[in-house]
Amino acid sequence: MKTFKLDTVIHYGDNALGRLSEIPYKRVLIITDPFIAKGPMISMITAPLKKGGIEYDIFFDVVPDAPIEKIIVGVKKFLEYEPEAVIAVGGGSAIDSSKSIREFAFKANPYGEVGLIAIPTTSGTGSEVTSFAVVNDTKAQIKYPLVSDSLTADEAILDAELVKSVPPSITADTGMDVFTHALEAYVSSEHNEFASALAEKAIEICGVFLLRAYLDGSDTHARQKMHVASCLAGISFNSASLGITHSMAHQLGAQFHIPHGRANAMLLPLIIEFNSDIHTSSKSKKEYDPVVKRYATVAHTLGLSSYNKIMSVRSLVNWVQFMLKEMKIPQHISEIGTITVDQYMSKVSVMADAALADACTVTNPRVPTKEDIMKLYQKLW
Ligand SMILES: NC(=O)c1ccc[n+]([C@@H]2O[C@H](COP(=O)([O-])OP(=O)(O)OC[C@H]3O[C@@H](n4cnc5c(N)ncnc54)[C@H](O)[C@@H]3O)[C@@H](O)[C@H]2O)c1
Ligand SMILES: [Fe+2]
Repeated sequence: MKTFKLDTVIHYGDNALGRLSEIPYKRVLIITDPFIAKGPMISMITAPLKKGGIEYDIFFDVVPDAPIEKIIVGVKKFLEYEPEAVIAVGGGSAIDSSKSIREFAFKANPYGEVGLIAIPTTSGTGSEVTSFAVVNDTKAQIKYPLVSDSLTADEAILDAELVKSVPPSITADTGMDVFTHALEAYVSSEHNEFASALAEKAIEICGVFLLRAYLDGSDTHARQKMHVASCLAGISFNSASLGITHSMAHQLGAQFHIPHGRANAMLLPLIIEFNSDIHTSSKSKKEYDPVVKRYATVAHTLGLSSYNKIMSVRSLVNWVQFMLKEMKIPQHISEIGTITVDQYMSKVSVMADAALADACTVTNPRVPTKEDIMKLYQKLW
């Protein structure tokens, strides 16, 4: 038996934030980052709360990649304030921090049910609908996903007004995270019809609207589409899970602070080649591996017409490389300029161990060895 479930109620479209004046809570803790807390965006959250007569406090100590130290600070704040619900506002870092804070605080002092409303301000992680929370153990230099149904938000609010201020480089990184979620879910060993349908739609939207949103952040239509695509891809991978692009990207984030979506985008061409084994099976065949067929379908969804399945997979790799160039994402670590070859190579073995142990590796369509992963990291240099 298989099960597909969606535990989060999604509010979206014009004035979606109006939902905040109607929520069934009287005392909420907003968890966000300093950029949002100190800028004009926070009033878009607090105004409807005031209208609904809902008391709130704000914890704005979130930093990128949800380090455990900051989660502990957030747990203390949570336990002092004892909110009825948490309102997570921000990118994946703020939403994942909120999920972990609520989870750990509840374990420390289970004073009753505490709701979670997730409001993404980037179109990227899909964290508003997933049971994943990525945390960063800065001492061990490992980033890993916590996975539990209890992490899932009760409600998600998708209001594209909040993403208009996202600068082009973050639009590029987070947009490629959306694409990677959809693609990894689509070829995952746990792929299924429900997850694949959502992934196909997210892929189609990325193909048409990601560059548009990158080139013109005020393009409301493109922003709305990418915001929905992010959520669709989130629901998709919440069901089918991900693959080694994510496992390996987590370690690049933990060791070298490469933004999550950027790390995925840089790895993606190498991982598509590895999973489809394109170098050794590059001749036309009567029957192709299932993963080759699925990558070829993705190429067709993007409108990349091709002569045969292998050519389709190649055109998919080319498309990703084209997107990287158009959106000024480096193709190799050496292009970043702040990481030396010795620094990078000295971490390859430890990153490979952590990537192999990452929860996303088990659903990769091709089972990798440590040597495979080390080679992929080396090629990325
Ligand atoms: N839980 C999941 O299912 C899941 C899935 C994928 C990734 N992640 C995790 O999410 C994190 C990445 O999240 P992210 O890519 O959204 O980035 P992020 O949350 O780290 O934010 C990146 C930057 O964008 C800024 N920002 C956010 N919203 C903005 C806005 N509207 N205007 C201008 N700037 C804005 C933030 O202040 C920050 O500086 C990583 O830790 C990653 O591992 C989680
Ligand atoms: Fe991701």
